Amino acid sequence: MMSTRETSLPIVTTSAAEAAHSVATEIAELIRARRRGGRAAVLGLPTGRTPLAVYAALVELHRHSALDFSNVVTFNLDEYLGLAPQHPQTFRRYMREHLFDAVGLDPANAWIPASDVAPAQVEAHCREYESAILAAGGIDLMLLGIGRNGHIGFNEPGSARDSRTREVRLAESTREDCRAHFGGAAHVPERAITMGVATILAARRIRVLAFGAAKREIVRRTLDEATGPALPATYLRGHADVKLFVDAEARPAS
Ligand code: PGA
Repeated sequence: MMSTRETSLPIVTTSAAEAAHSVATEIAELIRARRRGGRAAVLGLPTGRTPLAVYAALVELHRHSALDFSNVVTFNLDEYLGLAPQHPQTFRRYMREHLFDAVGLDPANAWIPASDVAPAQVEAHCREYESAILAAGGIDLMLLGIGRNGHIGFNEPGSARDSRTREVRLAESTREDCRAHFGGAAHVPERAITMGVATILAARRIRVLAFGAAKREIVRRTLDEATGPALPATYLRGHADVKLFVDAEARPAS
């Protein structure tokens, strides 16, 4: 019988604080190495609760270790559709608050799908996003969380391995998880734009974070279940340079 663990997903078990420090240090080294080579460092970035400590650590490195973001280009994984640009729950607002403004990132280098694209323009907007990633030289390091339904970005269950940046309908469990931020489920957007699975897998390095007991079951399934669209996080297995950081609470019993 073919094993469902035919491809590997290396796991590092450590505290959430240590993982954030380790990933922020790796990002800082990447930025400095690219600078020495006269190039930009291209980062793929998530929102949510999980990456906050990494962003705090990067802000700290900027303030106290002179980490310079002038050669950094970022592409966010996703954005809600149907929110006015000034809406407090846009991912652009989140990124400005938690990272961009604090490290002085040039807004021209901070790519996030627009939350207010007209329906007729969405496809072109997604194509342009893919082109911008290519024009930047591809993503050097993609930081990722895992949703409790196994989504990566907003690639919900059902997403194909070869999917690219596109409009998606959010899973009900995802909308449920966002409810508190929007003052009720009825106000959570139904649609979003997300990088595709193939867009994510094209990154040269992928660093995934999952912390707390609430993530243990999805981490277990990501490691154990067959690779495929039922659980998009399983597509990460077998990437040439992927690492999953979990804390003791999120680590499934082996
Ligand atoms: P979280 O979200 O970091 O808020 O748990 C993870 C995700 O949905 O990808």
